[in-house]
Amino acid sequence: MASEQPSKDHWSPQAYTAAASFVPQLTTTVVKYLDPKPGDTILDLGCGDGVLTSQLATAVAPEGRVFGVDASESMISGAASKYATSNLSFQQQDVTAFSPSAREQLLDGSWDKVFSNAALHWILRKRETRTDVVRAAYEALKPGGVFVFELGGHGNVADVRVGLTAALVMQGVSVEEAREVSPWFFPSEEGMRGLLEGVGFAIERLELEYRPTRMTEKEDGGTGLEGWVRLMAAVYVERAREKERYVRDVLALMEEVVTREGDGSQWLGYVRLRGVARKA
Ligand SMILES: C[S@@+](CC[C@H](N)C(=O)[O-])C[C@H]1O[C@@H](n2cnc3c(N)ncnc32)[C@H](O)[C@@H]1O
Repeated sequence: MASEQPSKDHWSPQAYTAAASFVPQLTTTVVKYLDPKPGDTILDLGCGDGVLTSQLATAVAPEGRVFGVDASESMISGAASKYATSNLSFQQQDVTAFSPSAREQLLDGSWDKVFSNAALHWILRKRETRTDVVRAAYEALKPGGVFVFELGGHGNVADVRVGLTAALVMQGVSVEEAREVSPWFFPSEEGMRGLLEGVGFAIERLELEYRPTRMTEKEDGGTGLEGWVRLMAAVYVERAREKERYVRDVLALMEEVVTREGDGSQWLGYVRLRGVARKA
């Protein structure tokens, strides 16, 4: 059985900024593909802390409008209090199960563009709701509209995943059970193509990129690899019997794999899957 989306809200805009501010920053290519223009209407799925969403709102102003949805109450309230304006709104919404009112309001076939950065690998975790999510993006768009996205692709952060699994096994969890804890789904190009074409999208671009990514350094006020593990892999830490020991073990297991010689900087093997799909 696939692990459930955790009901507990592990996200916080502060922890996200400290551990992973590079996520909304490393978006030049996907934003170029989105090509936000004055007047565009854009729906952002899994908008997080709203940093990137607010940049899109600036690009489509004054007549365009952007709407960000995210399952995390903490991320949405942080985004709304910091960035909401007359052309930028936020709403807490689980994209795997739109409420009837959100369906009516958002999945209405009126949007020029649907966007998602670094969120679909969480949103698509549950096999049974994968098609619903992609169909929701399709339904939201007007005919000819585009779905532009970037998510973790096949092989993403394989280094850390092995460490996260191994450290749970060291605490007596079976390998199978430890694997099921993963909150992510990192599809291959073929898998994503099948999902998108299955609901009617025509694929215009689909590319996988290996992009090693440097962890924010503690000296620069970031929380480094440890902060990444505590935030992004919170469900693993929660599953461990001895949580602090678990974090120490994960870091020790990965130390050699992710640390570069010379400056000692730590890098994770990010793999990005990026695409543009059009509604007929
Ligand atoms: C790494 S953050 C990315 C945020 C933002 N798009 C960015 O580029 O910075 C992933 C986000 O996906 C959201 N998320 C995970 N599962 C979700 C779901 N089922 N529905 C909506 N949002 C979800 C999380 O709450 C989190 O804010």
